[in-house]
Amino acid sequence: MEYEIKDLTLAQYGESMLKLAREEMPGLLSIIQDYAGVNPLAGARIAGCLHMTSQTALLMETLVALGAQIRWCSSNRYSTQDNAAAAMAKKGYNVFAWHGETEQEFEACKTRTLFDGDEWFPNMLLDDGAELSRFICRHYPHKIGALRGISEETTSGVVELNQLYRSGLLTVPSIVINNSITKTKFDNIYGCKESLIDAIKFSTDFMIAGKTATIVGYGDVGKGCAKALSSMGAHIQIVEVDPISALQACMEGYRVRTLSDCCRNSHLFVTATGNINVITLADIRQMKDKVLLCNMGNFNNEIDMTTLDTLECTALGQNIAEYNLGGNKTVRVLGHGAPANLSCAKGHPSFVMSTSFCNQVFAQIELWNNASRYPARVNSLPRSLDERVASLHLSHLGAELHRLSEEQALYMGVSINGPFKPESYRY
Ligand code: ADE
Repeated sequence: MEYEIKDLTLAQYGESMLKLAREEMPGLLSIIQDYAGVNPLAGARIAGCLHMTSQTALLMETLVALGAQIRWCSSNRYSTQDNAAAAMAKKGYNVFAWHGETEQEFEACKTRTLFDGDEWFPNMLLDDGAELSRFICRHYPHKIGALRGISEETTSGVVELNQLYRSGLLTVPSIVINNSITKTKFDNIYGCKESLIDAIKFSTDFMIAGKTATIVGYGDVGKGCAKALSSMGAHIQIVEVDPISALQACMEGYRVRTLSDCCRNSHLFVTATGNINVITLADIRQMKDKVLLCNMGNFNNEIDMTTLDTLECTALGQNIAEYNLGGNKTVRVLGHGAPANLSCAKGHPSFVMSTSFCNQVFAQIELWNNASRYPARVNSLPRSLDERVASLHLSHLGAELHRLSEEQALYMGVSINGPFKPESYRY
């Protein structure tokens, strides 16, 4: 057994956090029960690269319960919960992750996740932001053929994977679980809605009510963030390039403005675009004194931290830094521009991560057992599995489904047991 983590003495606390998480992850527990004795992942050697949190720990336990061997690292340098990593290391998992890794350490953790000397190389990847996929394509392109499939977590990962396919570097199938409704319309919206507030409150003394908050990007993540801040009494402004998303924001009652307009009056900025350098130093110089900046996108590059880091900086706490802009003006940044919910707080709540991670488990089972159904490109899970993920979470909330009659099913042209909507239906 091998691991590299911050502090093994945190294991007991981490185990308590896992106990709390387990109570709120009914989908993963049902999958373990449903497949007891079946081992659908027997023979799979999965290299996982996804934020090392308590929720991810339960995903790891589920994969092992289904018969897989795994090795794990975090998909962000600032997202590891050291207590969760310790709990997993103590239990014998191969985990290489700690909060606040340097770039070099992050790369080293990925290497150790992929290799155990000459003994072990994965035949499956479970990825987030295409971190491991890109890493293998860049450093070990001759090893790509050893993989049967890749399951990918995020919106940003899709962009990366498509680039890797287009450039001919990636030649194995992937399933992007962000295309599942039970991922993007739940984790991205309701997860962010709860965890953004945690991040701000854990790290600052920032009163949200009455403030003007600008959300840059009104996709599912931006929608969750806007809802959270608006429900706490903030005035919401949205910055968007896409007219459809912009119109959605208008209809929700938010102002849609250019970034430079928002710079003049906002107290708080949240980036949620999946794009690079969305807020630059030039933008920041137009902002008010002591503005709070926070990223909720997957990568650490939405706020131009490289340029900000050339300025004088003072830590105001563990996860908040104040940069001196000169002329008695400062700007404050949460979690060094990493996703604030994971770098400054505990990430999304377990329940919503259970829906996401059931999709990950089904994607792994599909790719491992039915790889020939999935061409070497970005694929989605079938809607039937999406509906199954939702079903696994209903009773936890006391919900019971109504059933179609034969006549109604015939009228609608669907089966009584689903799928209930065409694949093109967007929810
Ligand atoms: N992404 C957002 N929240 C998360 C969490 N709690 N665990 C893993 N990945 C996440």
